[in-house]
Amino acid sequence: QTKRIAVIVGSLRKESFNRKAANGLIALAPDSLELEIVEIGDLPLYNQDFDDDPPEPYSPFRDKIQAADGYIFVTPEHNRSMPAAMKNALDIATRPPSGNVWSGKPGAVISASPSLQGGFGASHHLRQTLVNLNVLCMPQPEVYLSQANELFDDRGQPTERCRGFLQKFLDGYEKWVGKMAD
Ligand code: FNR
Repeated sequence: QTKRIAVIVGSLRKESFNRKAANGLIALAPDSLELEIVEIGDLPLYNQDFDDDPPEPYSPFRDKIQAADGYIFVTPEHNRSMPAAMKNALDIATRPPSGNVWSGKPGAVISASPSLQGGFGASHHLRQTLVNLNVLCMPQPEVYLSQANELFDDRGQPTERCRGFLQKFLDGYEKWVGKMAD
């Protein structure tokens, strides 16, 4: 049975390497996984005062997260952590009225950066938060798309080398989703 996987992209910029990586994952996904990007760019900054009367975009976002069977987080690194947009989205879907809607689903993190470290710091900060959210986060394979500026062609398509990394990640995640369903 096909699992619906929400893909969260931590970058809001048009030419984002992480969005290109997410689109590559969507193109390479096996039949058992239906990947779809859930947008986070229009979510107002979380404020606890909103809990009783949330801004309009919160509710459809929370519904999409709740409806998904699992999550793939594609994150850039901003100052050795995940971007604020990513953290904001994580926080929004943990709070009342719906509560933590991420809980109990299989997730995985992949990061991309032009640096040699490939967003290692962002990936692990994000993993730390996923522990608290009770997202069942895939330990291996760890994929850090380093020198991401060399991993996509002029049309934004992943190079053959990049496709290899994305495929390895998807193979692992497909197995992980199966394992978590048992
Ligand atoms: C960055 N960048 C960056 N890169 C990195 O490897 N480690 C870091 O700590 C940071 N810090 C950082 C802070 C801020 C505010 C910005 C805007 C950028 C560079 C970053 O990796 C680069 O801009 C990527 O291209 C961002 O990912 P997208 O937008 O291409 O997906």
